[in-house]
Amino acid sequence: MKAVQFSEYGGPEVLKVVEVDEPHTGPGQVRIAVRAAGVNPAEWKIRAGYFQEFMPVEFPAGVGFEAAGIVDEIGEGVTGVAVGDAVFGHGSSTVAEYAVLTYWAHKPDDMPFDVAGGLSVASETAIRALNYVGTKAGETVLICGAAGGVGSAAIQIARARGITVIGTASAAKHDYLAELGATPTSYEPGLADRVKALAPHGVDAALDLAGAGIIPELIEITGDASRVISIVDFTAPEQGAQFSPTPQEHPERALQEAANLFSEGALKLRVEKTFPMAQIVEAQALSAEGHVTGKLVITVS
Ligand SMILES: NC(=O)c1ccc[n+]([C@@H]2O[C@H](COP(=O)([O-])OP(=O)(O)OC[C@H]3O[C@@H](n4cnc5c(N)ncnc54)[C@H](OP(=O)(O)O)[C@@H]3O)[C@@H](O)[C@H]2O)c1
Repeated sequence: MKAVQFSEYGGPEVLKVVEVDEPHTGPGQVRIAVRAAGVNPAEWKIRAGYFQEFMPVEFPAGVGFEAAGIVDEIGEGVTGVAVGDAVFGHGSSTVAEYAVLTYWAHKPDDMPFDVAGGLSVASETAIRALNYVGTKAGETVLICGAAGGVGSAAIQIARARGITVIGTASAAKHDYLAELGATPTSYEPGLADRVKALAPHGVDAALDLAGAGIIPELIEITGDASRVISIVDFTAPEQGAQFSPTPQEHPERALQEAANLFSEGALKLRVEKTFPMAQIVEAQALSAEGHVTGKLVITVS
């Protein structure tokens, strides 16, 4: 099968479409014929070698952590899914014609494959971050880095839970944040003052999805470090805030919640651009610029 791999750390040009053996399921896994796979910033960071000290890759390495497609092989012990079902979920080396998923949910019939391919990481991460800071209906949450994949999902999921959202993005994306249900503001210096004007009764919790060094300001804004989480800044715990690097308990429940919200019309995913597998270099280069709105997605078949 065709798959994207890289055999050394480096720029996007180290990414190649190659012929490799098809993967097969282990216990608790399903294999899909991939239709679409989301592009996540972690992929270019891993490829560039930024994580090699604590997460070294074995070369040749595959690319991709999420995909949607049609189940064609079912691992030992798996129930509730059949060959031929359309699913989306988390896996590894998903930018390929076939990929193994470790957890998944059924794709709603009316969810396009490109949306499904890019939904898993954004929705699971958004739900995890909102849960970890204990947000609940009637509260206000500040989401920093609100226009990307995770932020777009977090705004809508928070709104569906009855939470008021203030989101940060560059000025050109303020209408986009407002469409999703957030009150937009910029991420320029002076955030605390702007937020005070937008939320005179205060902000209960904050998500740092951009890693732009604003945890002290978020702690000041919320007045409670335990209700501040970063998914990017490894130093968050040293500053008293939370850090969450990976999916935790029952991520498949988050995927099901995302599928349900999509079916209810409460969660949409803007796919900024799709690329064929052969354009993985362009896709990762655009992701690395750091200004994606919604998601970039690789379409496979
Ligand atoms: N720990 C985990 O489990 C986990 C899971 C998923 C993702 N992540 C990480 O979380 C981050 C976000 O992921 P993503 O998929 O949402 O990324 P993304 O889609 O690439 O996010 C891009 C967005 O970031 C915004 N941005 C850039 N600089 C900013 C700043 N200084 N302040 C606020 N917003 C800023 C951009 O808005 P403008 O264009 O308006 O600047 C853009 O819309 C990435 O670093 C990713 O690696 C971690």
